[in-house]
Amino acid sequence: MSILKTAVNQSQPVISADNAASNPVNDAATAAPLSLWQQIREDWQAHGRDWTKPGFRAVAVYRFGVWRMQIKPKLLRAPFSLLYRSLYRKIRNGYGIDLPYTVKLGRRVVIEHQNGIIIHGFSVIGDDCIIRQGVTLGNRYLDRPDDAPKLGARVNVGAGAKILGDVTIGDDASIGANAVVLSDVPNGQTAVGIPAKLLQAKPAQN
Ligand SMILES: CC(C)(COP(=O)(O)OP(=O)(O)OC[C@H]1O[C@@H](n2cnc3c(N)ncnc32)[C@H](O)[C@@H]1OP(=O)(O)O)[C@@H](O)C(=O)NCCC(=O)NCCS
Repeated sequence: MSILKTAVNQSQPVISADNAASNPVNDAATAAPLSLWQQIREDWQAHGRDWTKPGFRAVAVYRFGVWRMQIKPKLLRAPFSLLYRSLYRKIRNGYGIDLPYTVKLGRRVVIEHQNGIIIHGFSVIGDDCIIRQGVTLGNRYLDRPDDAPKLGARVNVGAGAKILGDVTIGDDASIGANAVVLSDVPNGQTAVGIPAKLLQAKPAQN
């Protein structure tokens, strides 16, 4: 058993809305995994090669949290878990970015800026998505605490947007700043407002 590799396959398909539920990033069955270091390097590049960015740090701690779960037995994992939990709390309390390791996070996801970013532990976020300050991906009803949004690939989430409940946001969709999204958004569409409505495509100009 190798504890040096994690479960990201360099040639894996992108995480899109269609396959978001079976995101391979956290799936140990994939072959030719990226090492933790390779993943973090890729995230660093996605964050403009700036290791001081809170978003990069939050994603790096997340990757570490996922990586340490492969360490068996539990006793050997314990010191890594201790370190992870302390780093997770430091990121959450210091930068206001709550990104638990149970999230299924794609590759090169960028967290732009910080504060008020809450990601439900059962959320799925596809490859190359952008999440901005003040974004919540959360459950909608208290009595359905496990409901969480699924974002496809390359979803662009505007500052302050709230995406609530068991909704799916398609690949290449955009969510406007401060939108409250309560229903699915198809691939490539833009949703704005409260509650969010799809923007109609503009007629082509001649
Ligand atoms: C939604 C967004 C992606 C623009 O999409 P677009 O397809 O280019 O839309 P347009 O700018 O052509 O606007 C289309 C309509 O939506 C409205 N609109 C745009 N963004 C909106 C928003 N966030 N909330 C409500 N309405 C919005 C516009 O006023 C316009 O309305 P109108 O047709 O009645 O005039 C962009 O406005 C946005 O919200 N980006 C988020 C960026 C962000 O968070 N930046 C923070 C950086 S720190």
